[in-house]
Amino acid sequence: MHLNPSSLSESELYKILSGAVSPRPIAWISTMSQEGRFNLAPFSFFTVVSSEPPMICFSIGPGEGEREGTFKDTLTNIRDTHEFVFNFVPFNLIQEMEQSSKDYLPDVDEFNEIGVNQLNSTIVKPPGVKESPIQFECKLDKIVPLGKYHLVIGKVVHIHLKNEYYQNGKLNLIKLQPVGRLAGNYIQVKEIFNLK
Ligand SMILES: Cc1cc2nc3c(=O)[nH]c(=O)nc-3n(C[C@H](O)[C@H](O)[C@H](O)COP(=O)(O)O)c2cc1C
Repeated sequence: MHLNPSSLSESELYKILSGAVSPRPIAWISTMSQEGRFNLAPFSFFTVVSSEPPMICFSIGPGEGEREGTFKDTLTNIRDTHEFVFNFVPFNLIQEMEQSSKDYLPDVDEFNEIGVNQLNSTIVKPPGVKESPIQFECKLDKIVPLGKYHLVIGKVVHIHLKNEYYQNGKLNLIKLQPVGRLAGNYIQVKEIFNLK
């Protein structure tokens, strides 16, 4: 089969692209608005792009549903304050993570709404999710507009890591239980193998 991307609808393209680029890690991103309100939302168009300097990036689409034609709160907040926090999503937080993706109005604090606690950050203002085992405090490097999407590139300026997940200089991924995003569903990492 040959497909010309320009002859496919946005939703057809989304299904093929997000299905083919899977599983994707999930960044659970906390931000703070100019007025000091906290926000939390998941993004799976996400990856690490450099370890020296430590940089991560994720991509924010346009406002959805009733909020079509507007920007997502995460983008507005990062544009205004230049800071965000990455929170790792272990399997036991998947319900809270999914709940935080709902289209809450900008004045809703998702930490309260979904019932997770705040972890004070050291350098940036937005807090992390206390229940998550890893947080990266990030400063905005740049925002690259990509049509309706915006690619956010950030520099990791501080790392929080719960002791029990870090052994011999490595993260214990069996204990961390990462989850990945597929097309509309999820995958749990159950088996890890090496190629000799
Ligand atoms: C697992 C998962 C992954 C998501 N990935 C993205 C993404 O990569 N980009 C995006 O724009 N929205 C993504 N979303 C949708 C946003 O989380 C959702 O639009 C959210 O309401 C944005 O919140 P905000 O307006 O507070 O920023 C994802 C949702 C889920 C559940």
